[in-house]
Amino acid sequence: MADLSINVNGMQLPNPFVIGSGPPGTNYKTIARCLKVGWGGVVAKTVSLEDTDVTNVAPRYGKLWTPDKGHVVGFQNIELISDRPLSAWLDEFKRCKDDYPDGIVIASIMESHNQDRWQELTGVLTETGIDGFELNFSCPHGHPEDKMGAAMGQNPPIVQEVTSWVKGATHLPVWAKMTPNIQDITVPARAAIAGGADGIAAINTILAVIGVDMKTLRPIPTVEGHSTPGGYSYQGVKPIALRMVKELSTGLPNTEISGIGGVLTAQDAIEFLLLGSSTVQVCTGAMLKGHKMVHELIEGLHEFMDEHGFENVRDFVGHSLQYFTTHHDLVDRQKESRVKKAGMRNRDTEWGEDLASVTTSLTTNE
Ligand SMILES: Cc1cc2nc3c(=O)[nH]c(=O)nc-3n(C[C@H](O)[C@H](O)[C@H](O)COP(=O)(O)O)c2cc1C
Repeated sequence: MADLSINVNGMQLPNPFVIGSGPPGTNYKTIARCLKVGWGGVVAKTVSLEDTDVTNVAPRYGKLWTPDKGHVVGFQNIELISDRPLSAWLDEFKRCKDDYPDGIVIASIMESHNQDRWQELTGVLTETGIDGFELNFSCPHGHPEDKMGAAMGQNPPIVQEVTSWVKGATHLPVWAKMTPNIQDITVPARAAIAGGADGIAAINTILAVIGVDMKTLRPIPTVEGHSTPGGYSYQGVKPIALRMVKELSTGLPNTEISGIGGVLTAQDAIEFLLLGSSTVQVCTGAMLKGHKMVHELIEGLHEFMDEHGFENVRDFVGHSLQYFTTHHDLVDRQKESRVKKAGMRNRDTEWGEDLASVTTSLTTNE
């Protein structure tokens, strides 16, 4: 049977599936449940020092539905980082490691642009026995107003500086979590690596407005009649996340990438692995399907590896990157192959009345 385990930056995971920072890893109880049901690791909800002002609102989630209202395809949140005190977190991280010594627990941290604050937070968390850090340079709402989260992640020199502060305060592996709300995600990622980061996690949520309520005419989620743009996640973001992971894998070869964004099924997760992620994080999927969705991911990965004859996960991490090229090259390749299928000619004149059938003839993988 295929071996699903993987060693990433010295962390030995039983499988590449990791809970992404957010509600599924928001306290001891939920982290313990994740480890118990089989997740390869957990990135806990982002924490900061005790005196950071974190006041959440409700409601703070919104959903994007299919037109028939049958399925949720996108999700938006305006949730902040953890509003629980650091002292509680320190106890709970220790308990997690006491009770699950082999479980991989990664602390996600965020602070203001202050060396002492980042290093104090890193130091006390390192002492709890956790396995690694993820730096939240990417929360798109709330904290950027205080120059934290995505506001830092959009500033490569600050990303490099803060990463080096954290690396100076811990011996543990550090992943820098990138914001997709930027032109070229490889620029801050390179800065994080220059600052000493061991790996890159991507993506955090995409800044978005999920919709407007047709009765009240107020944007969603509506808090006291008003709203603010928030972070978009779940299935709808997967193609953008895959593109960004592809750019990171190609632009920063030999860097461990933790792919995140819209994973719901084993196929979704495998796609991230094929584009160069060595671990795959899931946040909203676990919120909507429950922690036990990892069973499907594990089963699906076993089936996939057996079908293709892969014995280890590393055997196919990044396998599909070799098939990307430029559009010019696609044209040349198609000319060369002299295969002129009707649906591939792509002339404007082919667009007749039946738009849907022409669209289908120009689409593969349906
Ligand atoms: C409700 C909610 C809360 C989140 N909180 C955090 C957080 O505290 N820190 C963080 O780095 N990312 C946070 N995220 C972002 C997720 O970790 C993840 O990067 C993003 O949602 C995309 O992955 P997904 O489609 O699997 O959810 C949160 C996401 C959601 C939906």
